[in-house]
Amino acid sequence: MIESVRREFPILSETVRGKPFVFLDSAASAQKPECVLQAIAQSVHHCYANIHRGLYAMSEKATEAYEDVRHKIARFINAYDAREVIYTSNSTAAFNLLAYTFGSRVKPGQKIMISELEHHANLVPWLMLRDRCGVELEVAPIDEHGDIDLEAYEALLARGDIALVAVTHMSNVLGTVTPAKELARLAHQYGARLLLDASQSIVHYPVDVQELDIDYMAFTGHKLYGPTGIGVLWGRYDYLNELPPFMGGGDMIKSVSFTGASYADVPHRFEAGTPPILEVIGLGAAIDFVERIGRDVILKHEQHLVDVASRSLSEVKGLRILGNPRERGGVFSFVMEGAHPHDLAVLLDQQGIAVRAGQHCAEPLMDRLGVKATARASFAVYTTEEEIGALIKGLETARALLA
Ligand SMILES: Cc1ncc(COP(=O)(O)O)c(C=O)c1O
Repeated sequence: MIESVRREFPILSETVRGKPFVFLDSAASAQKPECVLQAIAQSVHHCYANIHRGLYAMSEKATEAYEDVRHKIARFINAYDAREVIYTSNSTAAFNLLAYTFGSRVKPGQKIMISELEHHANLVPWLMLRDRCGVELEVAPIDEHGDIDLEAYEALLARGDIALVAVTHMSNVLGTVTPAKELARLAHQYGARLLLDASQSIVHYPVDVQELDIDYMAFTGHKLYGPTGIGVLWGRYDYLNELPPFMGGGDMIKSVSFTGASYADVPHRFEAGTPPILEVIGLGAAIDFVERIGRDVILKHEQHLVDVASRSLSEVKGLRILGNPRERGGVFSFVMEGAHPHDLAVLLDQQGIAVRAGQHCAEPLMDRLGVKATARASFAVYTTEEEIGALIKGLETARALLA
């Protein structure tokens, strides 16, 4: 199965430095299958005009294609209503939107809670809110395995002053999959809402917003085999519709005069200006791709890779895997005795192997883990056991050179 999936990704047959290209950085951005590129080309060739505005057939056709993807996404995440799907440019934009709008409604004395696992995208917008409006941040700690410490989490909620918990569903550093349903249940028990960062998890796991009983969620298209420039903010309809607009401009108003404006209902209130029309079409095709392969098939394949990598990485001398969470998605961060992660990445690159090295946009988590940086290997549906084998061999070669 994987061989035929790989054939859908032309870039995977490239060579790098004369070696087969081993791409182990999908957590940063996934490669794109041919069907995504074709859907965009098809749209450009046969179905393109600005949407919502033209009273002519081509614009109506483009609008229909754009809005159809909203329904597709709603089904993909099991939203209550397609109007709950807001197009943004990426997850980062979704967090900023919510920090600005929800943030402006936080009552004096109430706080936002994040966790020690968060990516900067789900941290900096809240720090900016604090600086702008004085809304304080609370940080739920992780334990020594890299799991959220549920007792401490509940104790912070029990103080009764948390308005929103903004927490990741899967860490881009440790691979930790958080118990989102339980986190939401506890948040609700103490009167808080929960925003889930599904940027990593939605690539590997089915994410069902009704089953998880969460209130808001963000994800980004380019990690889900889709194009860059498109992301999604999902929220319960009433919870979104009560928020003020974020960006002003065309397409987000009911009416405007020189003295004021009234605003459209969601989703359009949050989609000012010409949206990423082609990127939306590409994301729709990416979701079709994931559903065609089957989310259960993808998960089973990746969980097998996680088992293989856990075993083989732990056998590399001098290598330490960070975190040992209860459940891990296809992400491993590691450090090697006597080797800077950047040097490791460069030596692996010489063997055609692409891994990420650095702080992974999670500087506070690096501090918490007591490291300056890590190297990170991450998997996707097209990753093979042979590629993990190549990584292990590459690490051993690097060790022989550096240690
Ligand atoms: C967990 C997590 N959240 C948020 C983001 C931000 O995604 P984007 O840069 O597409 O907005 C990333 C990207 O690496 C991520 O891994």
